Amino acid sequence: MPALSERTTLIQPSPTLALDTEAKALKARGLDVVNLSIGEPDFPTPAHICRAAVEAIRAGFTRYTASEGILELREAVAGKFKRDNGLSYSPDQVVISCGGKHALYNAFQCLVQKGDEVLIPVPYWVTYPAQALLAGATPVLLETDPKTQLLTPEILEKAITKKTRLLVLNSPGNPSGKMYSPEALKDLAVIIKKADIWVISDDIYENLVYGDRKFANISMVCPELFDRTVIIHGVSKTYSMTGWRIGYLAGPKGVAKAAAKLQSQMTSNPASVAQKAALAALDGPQDCIVEMREAFSRRRTKVMELVRQIPGWECPEPDGAFYVFPRISALYGKEFGGAEIQNSEDLAQVLLKNVRVATVPGTCFGCPDYLRLSYATSLDELEKGLILIRDFLS
Ligand SMILES: Cc1ncc(COP(=O)(O)O)c(C=O)c1O
Repeated sequence: MPALSERTTLIQPSPTLALDTEAKALKARGLDVVNLSIGEPDFPTPAHICRAAVEAIRAGFTRYTASEGILELREAVAGKFKRDNGLSYSPDQVVISCGGKHALYNAFQCLVQKGDEVLIPVPYWVTYPAQALLAGATPVLLETDPKTQLLTPEILEKAITKKTRLLVLNSPGNPSGKMYSPEALKDLAVIIKKADIWVISDDIYENLVYGDRKFANISMVCPELFDRTVIIHGVSKTYSMTGWRIGYLAGPKGVAKAAAKLQSQMTSNPASVAQKAALAALDGPQDCIVEMREAFSRRRTKVMELVRQIPGWECPEPDGAFYVFPRISALYGKEFGGAEIQNSEDLAQVLLKNVRVATVPGTCFGCPDYLRLSYATSLDELEKGLILIRDFLS
């Protein structure tokens, strides 16, 4: 076989999707696996959204659409930004893509190239460094405040070089669940304004914020950065629509135009029927968001209660999203099920093998001393999985 492109060797398959596949394969073999590895809400997509998709099929809305997405949906996205964030986008500043991940891919391809540095705070979602590499750029991983796992202005300022082109912010974050306060964002904005760089604000978990905390992004707190910010968002997490594959970006007209051009040569439009479903999600009743958020909030409370009982785990409370990210390094050097734990990969393997609970090692997110557990699964499953882990490690 002739050689494949060098590009294919730059990245690894998504480890979180691989772990989920492994857990599902074990389940398919009849094994009783508790899968805490995947960031996928377990609720059915709300009925009014499914109905809109069925109506679209019945009405024959099954052909190509504008490759950047139908105008009504881009209008609905612009409406969402006005309603929820006070940000004014016109529909030609919005591009609808095949999931938030695809919107992010477009953004990286449009904003950076060979020779550029992309600043990515650790812990990071697995896809950011991979997509920076695919765009030919160099990911620069930034340490964060050990207490908050958030970027500080001091660290950011030190990291900026002549080659820096882009900073990626994700709040609430995957995997830490940590969120920037408006004040913390304002402090970062001072540094960003001084440097001539882009910001990607990945707001996919905007609606999953618990307690009294309120969501904010960099454009909301610093309008001067509006023209330098590209927001990544989507319906997957907010409306439990992971399989529909609808995400979007919003940014300056030039960026949206470039992303639309790229998409027109890459995927064309996202599925027409899924776009109608997303339209019903954004324009329809929003109480489903509140119901799901309340369920996640109850799970977060239960998970924190149980995680605190696990010996050797130290777990800060997440502000949002649906993950806990305990530090597990206190277990290093100890033996469980005949294997010595030296890092989070060992622990994830030991847990899968001995108690059949699937988790994700922090190595995937740039933090080898941590383990990620998703609470996007039922309270019963969470309780079962965490009690199994607690009793095994006790
Ligand atoms: C931080 C973050 N951004 C974006 C996405 C993309 O979601 P999707 O492609 O399903 O819209 C995910 C999914 O896990 C995520 O965790």
